[in-house]
Amino acid sequence: MKKRKAIITGITGQDGSYLAEFLLAKGYHVYGMVRRSSTETFDRIQHLITDVDLVQADLLDQLSLINMIKKIRPAEVYNLASQSFVPTSFEQPVLTGEFTAMGVTRMLEAVKLVDRKIRFYQASSSEMFGLAPHSPQNLKTPFHPRSPYGVAKVYGHWITVNYRESYDLFAVSGILFNHESPRRGKEFVTRKITHAVARIKLGLDKNLRLGNLDAKRDWGFAGDYVEAMWRMLQMKTPRDLVVATGKTYTVREFAKRAFRAAGLNWEKHVVVDPRLYRPAEVHTLCGDPAEAFRVLRWKPSVTFERLVDMMVAADIRLVERQQ
Ligand code: NAP
Ligand code: GDD
Repeated sequence: MKKRKAIITGITGQDGSYLAEFLLAKGYHVYGMVRRSSTETFDRIQHLITDVDLVQADLLDQLSLINMIKKIRPAEVYNLASQSFVPTSFEQPVLTGEFTAMGVTRMLEAVKLVDRKIRFYQASSSEMFGLAPHSPQNLKTPFHPRSPYGVAKVYGHWITVNYRESYDLFAVSGILFNHESPRRGKEFVTRKITHAVARIKLGLDKNLRLGNLDAKRDWGFAGDYVEAMWRMLQMKTPRDLVVATGKTYTVREFAKRAFRAAGLNWEKHVVVDPRLYRPAEVHTLCGDPAEAFRVLRWKPSVTFERLVDMMVAADIRLVERQQ
């Protein structure tokens, strides 16, 4: 029997690697879009390298996207590629717009041009809510992004909705709240903390410099969230959904739990560095996942506590191996 084909853009990222594993386990033929760089960034998918097919293309290059879709003729496209780090978006707002906003239009154009029956998932973000007027946030909450990244994601969201409404594409926007894992990039606060905890535990560092400890996030486990992405493309009718846990914690609470998991006292090691404050901050995010729970029959399986403990344990193993 012919396997169902899926393309994942951003397969080398945190979510791309979990989604590739998930789709392979479901029997898909998985194609991963990778961009050319002088050094390969395949660490997260090294264990899958013989199971997936990698295709070279770039969100900045329209023709490469059209050719990729023409060559593969997938049933599903998961558009996860983007410049995803909020502080970088303040430093490189134009490039962030090119990747994270216009890149979505280029992907949608390629799908529209080659085959309108292809199902399209757009990786939208809770950063679009930004300065939200109420909590928890759901599809009725107005967007008020607080960074060039958030602004670019709002564009990506609406262009996805627009192509669905204009051309009858099965195009959906998953508004996902923060999701983490041992594969999270070390620049994001959760992984920055758990990696530092491991180094401090093993005597390699003394302190960890952080910015705003009062920021609150709704943190889930990335492995759970990629299943929600897949479920969104299996719906009968395309629609957008908020995917979250519905619980929120401060950065301080994350740090406290992470240091405790390694038998350390966070107050002895964390130093607040105002240089890490953002020009405009998203203070509190908490999602309302009721619709996703109902429509997708999906629920997160990993609690905040288990997530933190899992990340600390993984980083301790990693740092020990590197010794
Ligand atoms: P990530 O680890 O930063 O991965 C980003 C991916 O995008 C990488 O594979 C990267 O490839 C690729 N990429 C960047 N620019 C590209 C370009 N010009 N052409 C082709 N590929 C490019 O991000 P993630 O955490 O897995 O998140 C996946 C998606 O979900 C992102 O769009 C992110 O904005 C969104 N999102 C994430 C969260 C979260 O909490 N994780 C929440 C909501 C939404 P390289 O390896 O070549 O750099
Ligand atoms: N990165 C970082 N580093 N953040 C810090 C630090 C620090 O040293 N100290 C405090 N923070 C605070 C930030 O100010 C922010 O309020 C919060 O920790 C979370 O920051 P990040 O982990 O960088 O994630 P994010 O919430 O800005 O963005 C992530 O989640 C979005 C979904 O809401 C990214 O994955 C985005 O791509 C994603 O869309």
